[in-house]
Amino acid sequence: MHKLDGQVAIVTGAARGIGRGIALVLAEQGADVVVNDLSVGTQPQEVVALITGLGRRALAVKADVSMVADVERLFQATLEHFGRLDILVNNAGTSQAKDIFQIETADWERLIRTNLTSCFLCSQAAMRIMARQKSGRIVNISSVVGHQGALFGHVHYAATKSGMLGMTRTLARTGAPLGITVNAVAPGCIETELLHETLSEKGVEEMRGKIPLGLGTPRDVGLAVAFLCSEGGRYITGATLDVNGGLYMR
Ligand SMILES: NC(=O)c1ccc[n+]([C@@H]2O[C@H](COP(=O)([O-])OP(=O)(O)OC[C@H]3O[C@@H](n4cnc5c(N)ncnc54)[C@H](O)[C@@H]3O)[C@@H](O)[C@H]2O)c1
Repeated sequence: MHKLDGQVAIVTGAARGIGRGIALVLAEQGADVVVNDLSVGTQPQEVVALITGLGRRALAVKADVSMVADVERLFQATLEHFGRLDILVNNAGTSQAKDIFQIETADWERLIRTNLTSCFLCSQAAMRIMARQKSGRIVNISSVVGHQGALFGHVHYAATKSGMLGMTRTLARTGAPLGITVNAVAPGCIETELLHETLSEKGVEEMRGKIPLGLGTPRDVGLAVAFLCSEGGRYITGATLDVNGGLYMR
């Protein structure tokens, strides 16, 4: 018996990187998965094919989770296809290699919408469904940056990732009497396209050398998310699980 048998999960931003890793681990552990992304390429379908290859059901839904109408469509499609929702992973996010002197108001607003507004909109939609079911798990993918601030001046990114931690703790209190747990995972440096786009190649190599366990993988984050969604996570809410290989110890 798999730990997540019979569960239905939405993973936002699951076409590549950490979201893809989370979707695959949840499926490995028994969940059916809605693979959400903005991406119009073949990547979401590849993730769907891997999940169905594991014997689970999967549905790709192209939606921009920073937009109200798209979020409504995503949750409607999930209910129409699977009839329920047990797990939401708010993973979609982005960063930008700019500091306070370079960030324009439009950059700021785009990051807030993509990383933080998306988390609000999807959590609201999920909690409405989970409250009716009297059970659910929400996991927000924050960052080590949410604890210690950005390492290279990305203040808009840091603000969104710290904001997700406040949202996590507040929703944990609201969700508890409804049978819903809400937790965060704070990855350190995980080797993905975004990491390479945000840090220079030199920066990535420098980070690799500084982390006791080296760079992490999307699967490392997926395993932590799956734990929070499993029986083992049933008495954990409002927590932030650090998945950073020892980069930051608090
Ligand atoms: N890579 C790291 O080292 C690292 C560390 C800490 C936290 N994180 C967080 O993990 C999450 C995933 O990061 P990643 O490195 O895998 O990034 P990535 O860029 O490789 O993948 C992100 C995915 O999200 C999708 N996406 C972006 N905006 C979207 C939107 N509005 N609607 C739907 N999908 C959208 C993208 O198309 C992409 O497929 C982000 O929230 C990021 O902040 C990453």
